[in-house]
Order: sequence, then C-alpha cells, then structure tokens
Amino acid sequence: MPYKLVILLSGGGSNLQAFIDACESKALPDTEISAVISNKADAFGLIRAQQAGIATACIDHKEFANREDFDSALKNKIDEFGADLVVLAGFMRILTPGFVRHYLGRLINIHPSLLPKYPGLHTHQRALDAGDTETGATVHFVTEELDGGPPIIQAKIPIFDGDNTATLAERVLSKEHTIYPLAAQWFAEGRLSLQNSKAVLDDKNLPESGVLFQPN
Ligand code: GRF
Repeated sequence: MPYKLVILLSGGGSNLQAFIDACESKALPDTEISAVISNKADAFGLIRAQQAGIATACIDHKEFANREDFDSALKNKIDEFGADLVVLAGFMRILTPGFVRHYLGRLINIHPSLLPKYPGLHTHQRALDAGDTETGATVHFVTEELDGGPPIIQAKIPIFDGDNTATLAERVLSKEHTIYPLAAQWFAEGRLSLQNSKAVLDDKNLPESGVLFQPN
C-alpha cells in the first residue's frame, strides 16, 4: 500500500507541485497524494492537482458558523480520502486544538522563517527589519501553539544587501521545495515521529532547530 498524503492549501501551491514532482520522479517512493483540499475555490493549487489527476475538494470556511464546525468538516473530508500524513502547504487557516490533537504526530507545516524566529505572518519583512544576515524555512510538527511545534528540518539562505521581500520569498520557496518532500519521505520510510513532544528521526531526538539541510 502506498503511503498516503492529503495536502491542504489556500493558494498557489508551489509546494504541492514539488510533492507532485517528487512522487512522479519517485524521489518520494511508494507515496501518493490521495487528495488536495482547499478552503478557497480559486486556489491555483487546485488546478495543479487536477492537472496531475489528483482528487480535489474545496471546503469554504465562510460557509461555517465557527472554526470548530469548519475543522470538523475538514477532518471528515481528510479521513474520507485517507491520510497517513496531513501536509499543510500554504493553508491559511488557524486550526482548532481538537483538530490538531486528532492528527498530532501526522500533521506537518512549512513556515518561511528559521523558527522559532518569526512565527506568524510577514516573516521576510521582519527578517529584513531586524537586519538579519540569514533566513530560511522550517518544516515542523503542528501542535496547538501557532508555528510552535518541534522543527523537523530547516534550510537557510543568506540575506544579501539589496534583498527585498520578493527576492527572499523566491529563494526561500526554492529551498522549501526540497526540504518539504524530504521530510515526507522520512515519514513514509517510518523514520520520523513525534515522541514526548520531540521530533525523533532514526531513534534520535532532533536538535531544537531540526535537521539543518546541507545540499550536497
Ligand atoms: C510558503 O511560503 C510556505 O512557507 C507558507 O505558505 C507559502 C505557500 O506557498 N506556509 P505555495 O502556495 O506552496 O507556493
């Protein structure tokens, strides 16, 4: 049985595309994307999924009275498709504690900063404003604390004079496309888990910032 991913998104889906490419090229072996779910009907990520022959669903959060009801519909849909791992790829909704607990240990996110720096929005502007000399992206387990779960893997890029939010976003995204499928591969291989609130890879607790991605 292939390892099943359900990917949640709200926008362009370049990370989804990286997963599609990794599955097709077998860089992510024995893995399939069982569905892509968006809270926005016009998310380009849905078109990417359809073009790749992947099932899609849209659950519009505006049609629900509260977050609990939305999350409950989302959970039902995810479980209908079947997910070994739920992958947040630019999913712009804050999830309820009940939803997070239900998927604890099999729910991951990617965030465009070197967590614990800059949880939340506007990460590139905040790195520039702080005069940082490097930034990057972090794949992490999702816990009830926003962008606060244990990191799995981080990729860094230098910040150059003249960089702006657009140039940083572009260079960080290209790293995301490498580290996110890699983290999923570790899951599919049974090497990665959440134990006692720590990310564990190959039976070893990962450091606070997760694995530092070092390209060959
Ligand atoms: C990325 O910057 C990711 O770090 C953040 O949302 C963005 C998603 O981009 N969580 P895309 O839709 O995958 O292109």
